[in-house]
Amino acid sequence: MSSVVRPVAWLSDSLRLLDQRVLPQEERYLDCRTAGEVGEAIHAMAVRGAPAIGIAAAYGLVLAVRAQPDDFDRAFEMLAASRPTAVNLRWALERMRGVWLTRRDVASLEAEAVRIHEEDLAQNLRMGELGAELLPSGARVITHCNTGALATGGHGTALGVIRSAHARHRIAMVYNTETRPWLQGARLTAWELQQERIPARLIADGAAAHLMSCEKIDWVIVGADRIAANGDTANKIGTYALAVAARRHGVKFMVVAPSGTFDLRCRSGAEIPIEERPASELTGFRGQPVAPQNYDAFNPVFDVTPAELIDALVCERGVVLAPTRDTVAALLG
Ligand code: MRU
Repeated sequence: MSSVVRPVAWLSDSLRLLDQRVLPQEERYLDCRTAGEVGEAIHAMAVRGAPAIGIAAAYGLVLAVRAQPDDFDRAFEMLAASRPTAVNLRWALERMRGVWLTRRDVASLEAEAVRIHEEDLAQNLRMGELGAELLPSGARVITHCNTGALATGGHGTALGVIRSAHARHRIAMVYNTETRPWLQGARLTAWELQQERIPARLIADGAAAHLMSCEKIDWVIVGADRIAANGDTANKIGTYALAVAARRHGVKFMVVAPSGTFDLRCRSGAEIPIEERPASELTGFRGQPVAPQNYDAFNPVFDVTPAELIDALVCERGVVLAPTRDTVAALLG
């Protein structure tokens, strides 16, 4: 059931990335041969999605130490800084550092990167089963951004739940938001849903509350880039607005994320760093100006949904309903 889309492929001497900036119009690949090239691909969003950038960064460290064994710390810091909000990136790098400090050999480092990659797929398949159990048959759901095979080691987090539920014939309709300004929904999620023949319709981000007001929607299902100790969840900008609208309309709200997305060092969402990207991503589109010349813009690309608006948190370790600090701590053991 796992998807055939492979956004990240390890070729032993290089990392092949499906360039997500040009999908779905073009299927183009980037071959990264150095850690610097991997860091640049993450920063430029050729590869994106919290788990996928963690996996890519882990392979980036293998490329770094293979070229120059003294380069571990420098490559670690460079990769960790390539995107700030998704904690899976630092989590994967820290796992790699644990192996490097104890073994100091490239083969062990490479094996750990492959393990991180393979574990992510297994976790997604498990979360898919757990999340699908929560959906009624004939479910009508809204999802945001891209959380599928393109954003992960395969299958996906929120989109993985939708895939698993579709395989159980539980999905009547998926509404996926376009996800301004980078259009992860319109370009990437729509592409994945179409390939799997899952019944789906695209909506403008601003149409979600209206849709909830005039049609029965069962669940909003989203992924996460970082979950604080109290369950507050950072995810793609617009997620918070969806959660507010969902509560207003009696629609349930589900967050799907592997344990590597939790950051217990952040006591609440207020401590999660929110990435801001260039104004040009808002004031223009693919090099074409949209706003008047020299117009300023505020472009935060994530927001924080307070735990009180989350009905279910689905992780490979289990499901937490109405998460609190205590239930999150119990989940992570
Ligand atoms: O800026 P992006 O495209 O990397 O943001 C991706 C998201 O916000 C996803 O919802 C999140 O990473 C979870 S995906 C499995």
